[in-house]
Order: sequence, then structure tokens, then C-alpha cells
Amino acid sequence: MSAVLLDGKALAAKLREDIGWEVQKLKQERNIVPGLGVVLVGNNPASEVYVRNKEKAVKDADMASFPHHLPATTTQAELLRVIYDMNRNEKVHGILVQLPLPKGINAETVLEAVDPAKDVDGFHPLNAGKLAIGRPTLVPCTPQGCIHLIKQAKEDLTGLHAVVVGRSNIVGKPVAQLLLAENCTVTIAHSKTRDLNLMCKRADILVAAVGQPEMIRGDWVKPGAIVIDVGINRVEAGEGKTRLVGDVDFENAREIAGFITPVPGGVGPMTIACLLQNTLKAASN
Ligand code: GUN
Repeated sequence: MSAVLLDGKALAAKLREDIGWEVQKLKQERNIVPGLGVVLVGNNPASEVYVRNKEKAVKDADMASFPHHLPATTTQAELLRVIYDMNRNEKVHGILVQLPLPKGINAETVLEAVDPAKDVDGFHPLNAGKLAIGRPTLVPCTPQGCIHLIKQAKEDLTGLHAVVVGRSNIVGKPVAQLLLAENCTVTIAHSKTRDLNLMCKRADILVAAVGQPEMIRGDWVKPGAIVIDVGINRVEAGEGKTRLVGDVDFENAREIAGFITPVPGGVGPMTIACLLQNTLKAASN
């Protein structure tokens, strides 16, 4: 039997509509227009696409956009100056520095320079730490999107075994914290995990965030599992064309899973919706 598709595009559209109403309310009641500053350094093609999509979403939600597209030659000191200026700017409620940053810039230093109250990516050590101790404030967007999608499949996750493949600070670790807060038993697996296939096979919820095209095979999936594919990988499709695939072998996994996210149209749109939600939250605070 084929899995139920978890439609991130539709869910994100619904979330963005609700956020749109909240933005209007904030304007009318408190004369506040939520503002997001997006910093892009250099010209990584994938980052350019992500940033363009984020800035369009900000405008569509009637929020204010403060774009800073800086050349690859930007120094760390120049980048820090841009961030300090936005930290002080009352019209900027959220700040996002698109990763990865060019060589020569220390991402940790840059992320720590963002005012934690404006850290809509939730990457500042203070916000990461608060999530880890169960006092979440601004939570990373992709992990939040994953939880929304999982809850489309099942509202109460208590006692389920969740396996997160990937241990990044952006997705793996925070999504594991959120699943723990939902009373799941959580395993974080990664490239050094032994018998990864067997580990995945035990997952009621499988979150794949490894950045390796179709690495999670269909027969690694437990029958009926909820499969969340965070990967967005561009691969050759013949005749000079390319296509996007996830970290999961979708066509085979969908025959075994109970619920599965497509790529594209799964987690990706949810990340952007959650970014708008965080910006609204930062502005309301
Ligand atoms: N690069 C890959 N994912 C993300 C993200 O969620 N936020 C930022 N700022 N950069 C990223």
C-alpha cells in the first residue's frame, strides 16, 4: 500500500495565511510592521535561491524586508558591522544570516553576534541552549516544520521511537530536542552509526537530514512509519538536465511507509512558513 503524502506546500500555505492575519492585527493594534533582515554573503547558487524565496515570502506576508546581499570578498569585520547595525535598528525584528558563509568568515562568531531576541533562525548558542533545557524561545525553522508535518500524521507522539539521521546544529540536534519534548524515545544516528539500516528499520518516525541523495533506502523503512525527508539534493537527470531529490529513496520508501514527505513540496515550504512565524513572534515580543 502506498503511503499518505504529507503535503508541506498546502500546510505552509495555511500557516502563511494565518500569519498574514496576525501581521495585519499587529499593524492595526500596535502599529508594528514585522521586519526581517536577510544577509547573504557571496554567490552560492543554492543559497541565492533560498534567500530569494525567503525574501519573497516576507513581502507576500506584508512584512518589511531588509536585504543585505554582500560580495564574497566581504570581511568578517564588515559582516559583523552589518549585523550590529541591524541589532540596533528598531524596524528589524528578525535577522537571518544564510549559511554556509564563505571561507575566511567564522560562522560561530557571526551567529553569536546576532541579538538573541532577533535570532529567527534559532542558531545563537543562547537559543540553542534554551531549546536543549526545555525552555524553547526562537526555535530553528526546519525542525519546527518537521514537527508540524509529523503532527499531520499523528497528534500524540508519546512513546514513539524517533530516529533522526544527521547531527547538524541546523536540523539534526534541534529536531531531536523537539521530538524529545513530544515524549518520543529519540535516537540520533549519523555517518559513523553502525548498522544504520537496522537502526532506521526500528523507527516509528524517521527524519532524514544527511544531505546525501536517496541514501535512505526503501527497505530501511519500518512498515507504517512516518518518514520526513529534509534533504534537498540536485542530481543529474540526463540530457544536461537536473532534478531535486531528497535523502530518502522516495519511490521505494513510499510503498512501505505510512506517511512520507515529498521533495520538493515537503519540508522546504514549511521552513519558510516557520521563518515568518518566528519573525512575527520576535516582532510581537
Ligand atoms: N542554510 C541551510 N539551511 C539554513 C537555514 O535554515 N538557515 C540559514 N540561515 N541558513 C541555512
